[in-house]
Amino acid sequence: MSLVCFPFKEEDVSIVVRNVEYAAQHPRVHAVLCVGYSKGETWHAIANSRAGIEARTGKRVILLLQKRIGLSLRGGKGDGMNTALLYFAENKEYSRLHFYDADIVSFSGDWITKAEQSGDLDYDLVRHYFPRSSTDAMITWLVTKIGFSLIWPNTYLPHVEQPLGGELMLTRRAVEVLVKDQRVMQQSDWGIDTLYTFVTAQAGLRVSEVYVPEGKVHALYGGLRDLRTMLVECFSALQSLQREQIHPLAGLHRMEPPKAVPTAVREKLGYDIEKTLKLLRDNWTPRQRELLHKHFDSALAKGLENSSEWPCWSFADEEAWVKAYPRFLEHFEKGDDDWEELLFKIWVARVLNHTLKNVVRGYDIALGTLRDLVRDTQHKSALQIKNAKRAADIAEKHPLAAGHSAASINGRANKKAKFGVETEVLCAVAQQ
Ligand code: DGY
Repeated sequence: MSLVCFPFKEEDVSIVVRNVEYAAQHPRVHAVLCVGYSKGETWHAIANSRAGIEARTGKRVILLLQKRIGLSLRGGKGDGMNTALLYFAENKEYSRLHFYDADIVSFSGDWITKAEQSGDLDYDLVRHYFPRSSTDAMITWLVTKIGFSLIWPNTYLPHVEQPLGGELMLTRRAVEVLVKDQRVMQQSDWGIDTLYTFVTAQAGLRVSEVYVPEGKVHALYGGLRDLRTMLVECFSALQSLQREQIHPLAGLHRMEPPKAVPTAVREKLGYDIEKTLKLLRDNWTPRQRELLHKHFDSALAKGLENSSEWPCWSFADEEAWVKAYPRFLEHFEKGDDDWEELLFKIWVARVLNHTLKNVVRGYDIALGTLRDLVRDTQHKSALQIKNAKRAADIAEKHPLAAGHSAASINGRANKKAKFGVETEVLCAVAQQ
């Protein structure tokens, strides 16, 4: 018996109410839980339609206000999802918990069926994935998948297609893992998806990704500026986990193969390029320039400074991003406006570079470059970890033959990682 949760803020009311009814109609669904950010128009619309849906479907529709759980961070999506986890954990009559964004125009009972069928194969966590525009998912590709590839290349994490997806199904076992974990319960903001993905992998759970060919038709962001908070919170969540370890063989990840991408998705441009170019010129401070020159490669620093005067983006290529990423892992400070703005600007420049260098060559090439970037980063990082581990082992066993003490070799390896990520961090995986 499953519980379906729709976390919501202010959405198109008719879509939300329709989705609640679709979910309630599903034979596997026992009840629908709507978790609201506030008691606004959407809340009242659900409250008013509730009795009708319950009468027509014979299922309960529960309406809850999200709790303030992770008190050290902004209250957002994480608190909403975690409110649902806690409700599910206390109400033992349900065996599975589904999450769907409330505003999905293309939502239907098929989404629930797909997840339920995968759950019947004993996966602990089922994620939905779907085709996305070649300019969409830029946090997923550049922050989350690159971060996973750099830090935990030997695990299945870099292979998770949509690690920030909000459409997923959890078994009771998976919910129990998450509610017991303070890192998860404290992540009240956009970082929650990163935490669910990471913690379920670390706990060794079995994950399947099911493909939804029609895609997720929903309200998209206006421009990249709308993604600034999400970018900062997703990066910061990953940064907070960087010293965590995962056994390379932990868990299992299976993916249903994708199908042909619909033309509407292939042709969609996710954001306004002209508006975005302006973002590189806004909000500069002397301290941003100082941090830029102090911590980043000189070509990147010079390029970004130039972009404050005229439109340019070629400096923010794939290599520049992968080199800059570990610097952010090491030095970025959430809540420090200059650091946040630098992360945002370098990311914006990378997205522009991707759009104007790769996306213009067509959908398949654009997606191919993103996949290659993840694969190459993962591969280089895995080799780097192996080499550093081998050097440390040799130094420990034969300090004199190696010509150095183990301590000095370890110390040097820690300073000389190729990506600039401290080897100590990267070795977290290898040292299991
Ligand atoms: C992502 O990167 O996945 C965000 O949803 C923005 O598109």
